[in-house]
Amino acid sequence: MLELSFLLWSAQGVKGRRGEKYATLRTAPSGGARHGFECYVDAARVTGLEPGIYHYLAGSHALQFRNRQTEEDRLQTAAGQKWAVRAPALFYFTAVPYRFEWRYSIHAHRIALVDLGHIGENLYLAAEALKLGTCGVGAFSQSHCDKVLKVDGYNEFTVYLQPVGRVRDREESEEAAFYSFVTEEGL
Ligand SMILES: Cc1cc2nc3c(=O)[nH]c(=O)nc-3n(C[C@H](O)[C@H](O)[C@H](O)COP(=O)(O)O)c2cc1C
Repeated sequence: MLELSFLLWSAQGVKGRRGEKYATLRTAPSGGARHGFECYVDAARVTGLEPGIYHYLAGSHALQFRNRQTEEDRLQTAAGQKWAVRAPALFYFTAVPYRFEWRYSIHAHRIALVDLGHIGENLYLAAEALKLGTCGVGAFSQSHCDKVLKVDGYNEFTVYLQPVGRVRDREESEEAAFYSFVTEEGL
């Protein structure tokens, strides 16, 4: 649970607030402090946490139960990539385009692309700091993810997945293909 808490905070945690209609300052930078992404985690094997999909409420650093999914659902979200769904914690990031678009109009997508890169990289770095492993997943079924996350696919839709788990022996994993480095052991 502590590891998951650190991973979530590193990806999207709120460090402070600024202004009356406050903007959040987070662990990942965001153009214009738009913070147009939401983070969900499918915690399959995390000590102290009932298995299920949770929404990370960044403002209060809390988890809100969202849904339960079957192994089959999980596999479908990751477009059949078995190595990805083996991970004890599968992170899903969604975009809320309005947060960027009202401010940046046609330039919004440029900002959003860079912001998501920062979030993903933060999760890579946090995993590394805990001697865990992660790998970006761009091949996923958006419609299936949107369904299990209970987002509408229009005002909010899935853009990126990152499974996180314990890595096999470091030297062994250097040699192994990246998709075989995460073990089934829980967080
Ligand atoms: C945005 C993004 C999407 C990716 N999508 C997948 C994917 O769907 N399946 C997969 O096996 N690897 C995926 N990868 C992993 C890359 O293939 C991997 O990072 C690359 O081969 C370099 O390997 P390394 O990360 O071990 O250095 C993705 C990586 C990124 C950054």
